[in-house]
Order: sequence, then structure tokens, then C-alpha cells
Amino acid sequence: MKDVCVITGGGSGMGLATARLMGKDYSIIICGRSVKKLENAFDDLQAEGIDVEAFACDVSDYKSVENLAKYAKEKGRIAAVIHAAGMSPHMGNAKQIMEVNALGTVNINNAFFHVMEEGSCIIDVSSMSAYLTPKIIMPVNLYKYSVTNPELFMTKMMRRVNLFPGNVRAGVAYGISKHFDIWFAKQDAARFGKKGIRVVSVSPGNFETPMGELEKEEADAYTKHCAIKRFGHVDEIASLFAYCASPSAGYLTGVDILCDGGLVASGVNPLMKNNINKFKNLNHNET
Ligand SMILES: NC(=O)c1ccc[n+]([C@@H]2O[C@H](COP(=O)([O-])OP(=O)(O)OC[C@H]3O[C@@H](n4cnc5c(N)ncnc54)[C@H](OP(=O)(O)O)[C@@H]3O)[C@@H](O)[C@H]2O)c1
Repeated sequence: MKDVCVITGGGSGMGLATARLMGKDYSIIICGRSVKKLENAFDDLQAEGIDVEAFACDVSDYKSVENLAKYAKEKGRIAAVIHAAGMSPHMGNAKQIMEVNALGTVNINNAFFHVMEEGSCIIDVSSMSAYLTPKIIMPVNLYKYSVTNPELFMTKMMRRVNLFPGNVRAGVAYGISKHFDIWFAKQDAARFGKKGIRVVSVSPGNFETPMGELEKEEADAYTKHCAIKRFGHVDEIASLFAYCASPSAGYLTGVDILCDGGLVASGVNPLMKNNINKFKNLNHNET
């Protein structure tokens, strides 16, 4: 019996490419909210000979994630969870983005903590936005509430995001939620480490996916600053996820890996240039 690999957001983009790659070695469970998207992905993967199941799940709902974790556990030993589900500023409002990207990661790690065993790994997918969004707006002092009281955490995070003008809130929520994901994965490595499980976050730059396509207009302006002047191909990020989750990376945990074609390394930050004046007068005292 093959070990199980759970892929959130497995119905499209990076998640689907990862299912295709990891399906060579693992039993795959793809999940997402849209049944139609999952059905199409399921048909494609099955036609390629991959042992795959699809499970409808909303990562922002703990009960739904708990059901996914229980289902995966019944199927076999869970070797890897690739948590690629995410929502960008073109896909929803600030609250939805925070619920999917930040709370979703808390839910995934918390639910799978109970069903994963020694030698396995969670990859939490963040974004290079975590590096490009000005540090000055990151409410790092609020992140600790995610560990003790996720509901209060969400209230406080949204209070912070709502300090910004309506037209930039979705973008701010995206940057903050992805910055939080890196923080959360890092601090969670110790909890999982006690069970011999690794937690790694990966921060993609611009990639050719349905989400990447929606961001294309703005993202094209970034590409000229990259060391590699193109969008990443999905198979390039899928192979990074697969390596990080594999036993070959057995000493890799509590760290973020940035895979952005060298944009952040260039030191140029188009996001900062456009938004610096909006971020000057924030109150940083809330705890
Ligand atoms: N593409 C890029 O340029 C880029 C750059 C930086 C970071 N990222 C990150 O990379 C990850 C993968 O994105 P992608 O580019 O592959 O985009 P994508 O093709 O849009 O995939 C995102 C997936 O997440 C699923 N999803 C959204 N909300 C969900 C929820 N509440 N519960 C469960 N699944 C949900 C979507 O399926 P449903 O709609 O059916 O739920 C979709 O299949 C995301 O976390 C994204 O933020 C992407």
C-alpha cells in the first residue's frame, strides 16, 4: 500500500502539478471547494494512472479540515501534506483572503497534527508577497493569538487590515496572511518536531497558474527585475515541494524557502515603491 499525500488546492495550478508529480510515488488526495474543478483534475490524474481521490474541503472551516484529516488517516499512512490552497486579491475580499490563507494554515496544521506520524512533512505555501509587503505593516505581535485562540486572532488581524483604505485591503490582507504563514510554519516546527514531523514553508514568486494569470498585469512589472526574466513553470515549484516533503530533506524544518526567480534578491520592490505613503501613519501599539 502506498503512503498518502494530501494536497490542498490540488484541483488546479501548483497543487495539480504537484499531484501529477507526487502521484508517481504516493496515493494522492486532492482537495478544494469546487467539486467541478476537483472532478476535472481527478479525471485527468486518473487517466494518467495516478491513484487519486478527491475530497471537497474548505480550509477556512476547521470541521471540514478535520474531516479531511480523518479521511486521509483512514486511507493510509500520511507521508506528506502539501497545503497549496490559497486566495489572491483578485479572488476575494480581505476577510475571505485572511480566512483562507491565514486561518486555513492554522486549521490544516492543527487538524493534521493529530493524524500524522514520525517521518512525515507539511509544506505550507506562502508567497513572495510576504517579503515584498512592507515589514512596517506586519502585525507580528498579534500572530501569537493563532496558537491560543484562532477566533480572537482573526478578529485582531481583521481589525488591523481594516485600518487601511478599502481599495488596498485585499492586497494588504494577502501580504499579511502570507507573512503570517511563514511565522506560523516556523514556530510550529517545534511542536511537530516532538513527533518527528517536519514543517517547511515555501514562498513562490510569480508562477504560471490560474492565480498567476489573474495577477499577470501587475506581475509582469516585477519580471523585469528578476534574475530569471520569466514566470516560474508549475513543474518547477512542484518539484521543490516534492523534494522538501521527501525523506531526502529529513533535516529541513522550521524554515522558509523563497522560489521567486531572484526578484527579492534584486533589492527592487515595486510594491513598496507604490504604497509607501499609505503605510506611514499606522498605530503599532495594539496587542
Ligand atoms: N501563482 C502565483 O504566482 C503565486 C505566487 C505566490 C504564491 N502563490 C500561492 O501558491 C498557492 C497555489 O496557488 P496557485 O497559483 O496554484 O493558484 P490556483 O490555481 O488558483 O490554486 C489555488 C487553489 O486553492 C483552492 N482554494 C481556494 N480557497 C480554498 C479554500 N477555502 N479551501 C480549499 N481550497 C481552496 C482553489 O480551489 P477552489 O476554488 O475549488 O477551492 C484552487 O484550486 C496559493 O497558496 C497561492 O497563494 C501563488
